[in-house]
Amino acid sequence: MAHPDRFLLAGVMGWPVMHSRSPLLHNYWLKQHNLAGTYVPLAIAPEGLAAALRALHPLGFAGCNLTIPHKEQALKIVDEVDSVAKSIGAISCVVVRPDGSLGATNNDCYGFIQSIKQEQPGWRADHGPAVVIGAGGGARAVCYALAQEGAKEVRLINRTLDRAKKIAEDFGGPIKALPWEERHEALSGAAMVVNTTSQGMLGQSSLELKLDKLPARALAADIVYIPLETSFLAAARRRGNPTINGLGMLLHQARPAWRAWFGVEPQVTAELRAMMEKTIPL
Ligand SMILES: NC(=O)c1ccc[n+]([C@@H]2O[C@H](COP(=O)([O-])OP(=O)(O)OC[C@H]3O[C@@H](n4cnc5c(N)ncnc54)[C@H](OP(=O)(O)O)[C@@H]3O)[C@@H](O)[C@H]2O)c1
Repeated sequence: MAHPDRFLLAGVMGWPVMHSRSPLLHNYWLKQHNLAGTYVPLAIAPEGLAAALRALHPLGFAGCNLTIPHKEQALKIVDEVDSVAKSIGAISCVVVRPDGSLGATNNDCYGFIQSIKQEQPGWRADHGPAVVIGAGGGARAVCYALAQEGAKEVRLINRTLDRAKKIAEDFGGPIKALPWEERHEALSGAAMVVNTTSQGMLGQSSLELKLDKLPARALAADIVYIPLETSFLAAARRRGNPTINGLGMLLHQARPAWRAWFGVEPQVTAELRAMMEKTIPL
């Protein structure tokens, strides 16, 4: 439990960083839990990352989140990286330990799975094949999470096939890389399809994916959360598929960070979602 007489400090390091929704989320929880503290956006240029991370302890920070472009670079700076972050090859959360050393993990996979479990309580990873579109950082977290949850088959499809092959090589098991041209057909018999590309994000073109072969009850998920409903999700919803947007993943990945920094377990409530949704363009 956080010390009642301490001003709690945490933040997010990114470059740029002012678009981040994390300060809104964490400051909501600080207020909700009646804790004195603040969570700040920290604009840190790549060449300043090591010094900024080392400054966390003397400044009294409990830790920080990392966003683009720091998630991979930080692996070489922190003192201890757990097995999840090592497997994914990226850090999302740094924890300052009592002796000042820096521990690190990746909570994106936890966020992805918890978001599905909250919104689709009957969901199980082994219900049928999952199709994952994209092979960037988000895809690595999603593939790792699905494999950990017991998925038997993950059809991984990316515009650049080699990146998908690399994930299949790194994680092995159920993950099979398929060429981009096969994405429409790959939906056949799937229990779930996840967009992890940046396609559909505000300012980007839509994901080109024909949903004709997607079974009627398959879950369609997008990790993009700006806008809340991408054109891919809208198309899935119109044909009756259950859908999940990327906001839940963002909210849930923040919960274990809080546990590690402040010893408190915050919840993702309908009120929190509504507050966050108001700040996201439709
Ligand atoms: N909800 C959350 O908590 C959460 C967490 C992480 C990420 N995200 C979101 O997920 C999205 C991806 O993030 P990331 O970090 O994984 O990015 P990333 O590492 O840069 O990967 C981008 C992915 O998009 C693909 N892509 C880009 N342009 C494309 C195009 N024109 N056609 C087809 N594929 C294209 C890339 O394919 P190539 O390999 O061929 O370039 C790659 O697979 C972003 O919108 C991000 O905000 C959300």
